Formats: sequence, C-alpha cells, structure tokens
Amino acid sequence: MTSRNHTAVTYFRFLPFSSTPEIQGFLFCLVLFMYLSTLVGNILIITVTMADAALHSPMYFFLKNLSFLEIGYTTSTIPKMLVNFLAKRKGISFLGCATQMYAFSLLGITECCLLAAMAYDRYAAICHPLRYMTMMSWNMCFLLSAVSWLIGVLVALGQTTFIFTLPYCGPNRINHFFCDLPPLLKLACVDTSKNEITTFVITVLFIMVPFLLTVVSYVQILHTIFRMPSARNKRKTFSTCSSHLVVVTLFYGSAIVTYWTPKGFYSSSSNKLLSLSYTLVSPVMNPLIYSLRNKEVKQALKRLIKKTMPLFV
Ligand SMILES: *[C@@H]1O[C@H](CO)[C@@H](O)[C@H](O)[C@H]1NC(C)=O
Repeated sequence: MTSRNHTAVTYFRFLPFSSTPEIQGFLFCLVLFMYLSTLVGNILIITVTMADAALHSPMYFFLKNLSFLEIGYTTSTIPKMLVNFLAKRKGISFLGCATQMYAFSLLGITECCLLAAMAYDRYAAICHPLRYMTMMSWNMCFLLSAVSWLIGVLVALGQTTFIFTLPYCGPNRINHFFCDLPPLLKLACVDTSKNEITTFVITVLFIMVPFLLTVVSYVQILHTIFRMPSARNKRKTFSTCSSHLVVVTLFYGSAIVTYWTPKGFYSSSSNKLLSLSYTLVSPVMNPLIYSLRNKEVKQALKRLIKKTMPLFV
C-alpha cells in the first residue's frame, strides 16, 4: 500500500456554461431537443433495418450497430449534463466520473473501428463486386463488429484505469460538461507530461489506425469510381457510399476540431460549446443523413410507415 499525504478528491464539480440563467435555459432546451432527436432517429434506424428484408445486408447490419452505439454514446454524457444544467450542485462522484469516461471512451473507440469496418464493406462492394460475397460474408461481419467492440472495451479499460489511479488531491473543478480525458488529466496532482505522451500514443494507435484504414478504403473507392466509363454508373456507385462518407467526415471533423486545438481550449466557454458538437452533432446527423440521402433506407421507411399506419388510424 502507498501512503498518501493529501486528501483525495471524491467529487468533481463542473463549471456552468454561462452565469446567465437565460443562456443556461436556452442551452438546456437545445441540448434536450437534440438528445431526443438522437434517440428517435437512431431507434427508427434500428427498427427499419430490422423490420425490412431489403435492408438485411452487411452495410445495414453495421448501420444498425452504429445507431445502437450512438444511443449509448450520447446517453453516457447528455442526461447527466441536462441534470447539471438545472441542479444547484453541478458535479459528479469520483466513481461516476470514472464510469462516464469508461463508457464514453469505449463507445468512441468502437465507433472509429465500426466506421472503418463500414468503409471496408464499401471498398469490397465497389472495388471487388464479384468477390464481395466472400469478402463480406456474415461471419466476417460478425467478426469485424465483435473485434470493434472488443478493442473499445479493452482500450477504454486500460485508459480509464490509468487515469483514475493517478492521485487527485484538488482542485476538483472541471471546466467542461463531462469527464473527458484532457480536462481530467490537468487535475491530477502529479506531473502528467509522461501520461500525456502515453495517452497520445494510445489515441494515435486506436483512433488513427481505423481513421487511416477508412481513408485508404475511400481512396481506392474513389479511384475505382473515377475510372468508370459511364457517368450514370459513376453517380449510381457513388450514391451507395456517399451517406457513409458524409458520416465519417462529420465524425472525424468534429473530433479533430475539438482535440487538435491549442492547449487553452478548455478555458473558453465558446470553445466548450464547440465541443458539444462531437458529442451531439454526429449522433443527431447519422439517422438524418441515412434516411434523407439513402434511397434504400428511404424506401424501407416508406414501407414501414405504410405497414404501421393502419395501427394508428
Ligand atoms: C452490435 O454488435 C455487437 C458485437 O457483434 C453485438 O454484441 C450487439 O448486439 C450488436 N448490436 C446491435 C443492435 O446490432
């Protein structure tokens, strides 16, 4: 046992977004609205991919899994944040904070891997249409999604254990709206520069590798599409991967904007607002993008509405 000559922090306090009650109220309504939209949209995607036989393919298997994940991803941070908008005592227990970081990292890392698996699926379908069935068998689908979740579980476990075995002896004020890694590392009362490097290496490995695989897949896909002779074929083929491409761009775009900004990032409240984007924008947008842009999902939604309408009228 190590003896510690400081009082350990058992509770973390979140700083409010703003001291103006009107702004707090407005943000509460906005975030609540976006959160409910996320739930409704993603539940709809899960329902339609399960109910419609035309959507029983690898691509929609991954989409369903992604929607399932995004419900968890937003639920790990947003409800607690909404409570804190209203509560006098804005904060979270030490264990709650660890749980939140674990869930958030797990789902974030799994999302990177799932997006890469989806890109590989599109690569196989577009660049190797004749071998698609063997490259993307159901076994392969289950394997890719299981590996994605396993990587998320293990990496998040390592990362969270690592962060929460550091000593915290105060201050306990987090200038953010949930227990994210960078603001928490700052609160540890040891020199964290070595930890920051380790964290950086982990992040690079488990976020950059899926990211690069996704980019490589899309380079191949675009290369294949550009070489197609007919413009009509080009458009048709591109439409089978454009929704996913938009989703990937949004997800990594908002993550890059948040994490790759200078050190003072978490000190300004307008930037804190910006960081709302990567927790909410991509989960809100995914179902919208797929149900508005993707013909197959659109048609399946119409069939679902036709089938369920008689139940209500
Ligand atoms: C997502 O994939 C994981 C791992 O294969 C599985 O355990 C989970 O049930 C899936 N969820 C949905 C909704 O498909």
